[in-house]
Amino acid sequence: MDPTDFLVIGSGIGGLTYALRAAEFGRVTIMTKKQRRESNTNYAQGGVASVLAPDDRFALHIRDTLRAGVGLCDPAAVRMLVEEGPLMIGELVRWGVDFDKQGQALSLTREGGHSRNRIVHARDATGREIEGALVRACARHPRIRMLEHHLAVDLILSSKLGGRRRAGPDSCLGAYVLSGRSGRVQAVLARATVLATGGAGKVYLYTTNPDIATGDGVAMAWRAGAAIADMEFVQFHPTCLYHPLARSFLISEAVRGEGGVLRNGAGKRFMARYHPMKELAPRDIVARAIDNEMKTRGDKHVWLDVTGLKPAFIRKRFPNIYKKCLELGIDITREPIPVVPAAHYMCGGVMVDLSARTSVNGLLAVGECSMTGVHGANRLASNSLLEALVWARQAAAVSREYLAAKLPPGVPAWRDTSTDRKPAAVLYHHNWDAIRRLMWDYVGIVRSDAQLKSASRRLKLIRGEIENYYWSHRVTVDIVELRNLAQVAELIVKCALRRHESRGLHYNVDHPLTDPALDGRSTVLRQRRSRPSGPRRKGL
Ligand code: FAD
Ligand code: SIN
Repeated sequence: MDPTDFLVIGSGIGGLTYALRAAEFGRVTIMTKKQRRESNTNYAQGGVASVLAPDDRFALHIRDTLRAGVGLCDPAAVRMLVEEGPLMIGELVRWGVDFDKQGQALSLTREGGHSRNRIVHARDATGREIEGALVRACARHPRIRMLEHHLAVDLILSSKLGGRRRAGPDSCLGAYVLSGRSGRVQAVLARATVLATGGAGKVYLYTTNPDIATGDGVAMAWRAGAAIADMEFVQFHPTCLYHPLARSFLISEAVRGEGGVLRNGAGKRFMARYHPMKELAPRDIVARAIDNEMKTRGDKHVWLDVTGLKPAFIRKRFPNIYKKCLELGIDITREPIPVVPAAHYMCGGVMVDLSARTSVNGLLAVGECSMTGVHGANRLASNSLLEALVWARQAAAVSREYLAAKLPPGVPAWRDTSTDRKPAAVLYHHNWDAIRRLMWDYVGIVRSDAQLKSASRRLKLIRGEIENYYWSHRVTVDIVELRNLAQVAELIVKCALRRHESRGLHYNVDHPLTDPALDGRSTVLRQRRSRPSGPRRKGL
């Protein structure tokens, strides 16, 4: 395949925003593993956080973000996120995003952990609106090429050229990509490669994430020797619809922001017992409170009740949620919604600096697959779409530097080491289910040392089996995703085992207190051979 200036892996908000900006001065190729719109971005409901209200201040958004992150956020990253917010919203509007308005001004709602109304939204389908506008803008751009059904399998590294490892820091030269059409793996050379592969919700049995969220970017970066950080901080959204026919359907936090209340199996409100902000407490607290109510009462779910709101308002403000529930026989204007917590967002990821540079030369990361220092131990609601926008802009700005990079005349073709061409469906399905069940049961909302150690031992065995299979069979989308899922699960457990305290999203019954000595200390994982040169933060 032809070389490109900038190879973007992923077509969510991070990848598309980067592409639109980098195309101002270079040629951009976007590879995406399914249809172009299929991404976490497309399912975002609540909105984008930004300081726009007259009674709001940057200092307040910064304070709320730092508070949610429980002493682990990078203050410089948080400041950049917040101060760039209004600019980014303006840019989205110019790219054609139709946010809800109240009069001439953008309509703002509130979500958990925010002290002011600052969430810009498009009904309850903000992500679909943003994704659609960005995809259309990219499709119109003459210097952007988008290839659907192209799965990045692994990164191409300078150290691997010529069959033997070279001395010096590694550089990323592009990626090996599996084409869904031809079934062949080809090398795509690029001056800079941008991971924009999103999250890894699929590591857990229950998740709000779509099928694409298998953590591919983190796994590829880890194999390439990039530093990975804070993987123990997996955010569980408190309110995923509980229904046998609904898969991964979120009931937005904005529903609580507009006045929805939580009730336990006895129909009683309970959040006041857990936090003064009640239903709008930070997400980790609401998710643990629900988990506790369910466990102590033996219930399968709790209730989210919006029957106190006007039916006409519910239908106008939450048309998708209203429609989806009605299809399943629940009229939310008259009866409460059954909800449970589910894996939602990966706060950790590939460690990057303020310009989105990873510790591997020529490799950038933006959006959910990255760890920028913004979220710390817990992400504040609706800060992630904003983070992807801000770091995509930074990544594009720094990409000018890579235009002068020399590409090698060629790289070794993908080595097909397969000896066995028969797909083993049993191995795939068994391990896919085993990892997700294991992570849900042992590495979920509440953890213990014994559970984490057991998960680590089991994952080692599972990963060994998958690696053997991977190297002896033809590469397929399923096996690549399974391999990455197992890798990311292992990274989550590794990080969780290193943190001997409870903080934010990581709650371990054997270390229930937060240790102030660990304030500001991220859990950083590095392969022994990596030479980090980019981000510099304190680590455990
Ligand atoms: P994504 O949007 O997930 O895009 C990843 C892309 O990478 C996809 O195109 C995927 O196909 C592609 N890809 C992955 N692996 C490969 C590979 N190996 N090769 C090629 N392509 C690959 N955040 C907010 O701030 N506000 C909200 O209201 C909000 N609501 C949410 C609701 C739901 C249901 C969910 C799931 C998340 C929500 N979030 C919200 C989180 C937010 O949507 C995500 O963090 C954000 O969209 C991530 O954007 P991204 O560009 O990093 O990744
Ligand atoms: C939601 O709408 O509740 C999701 C918001 C988020 O994840 O930031």
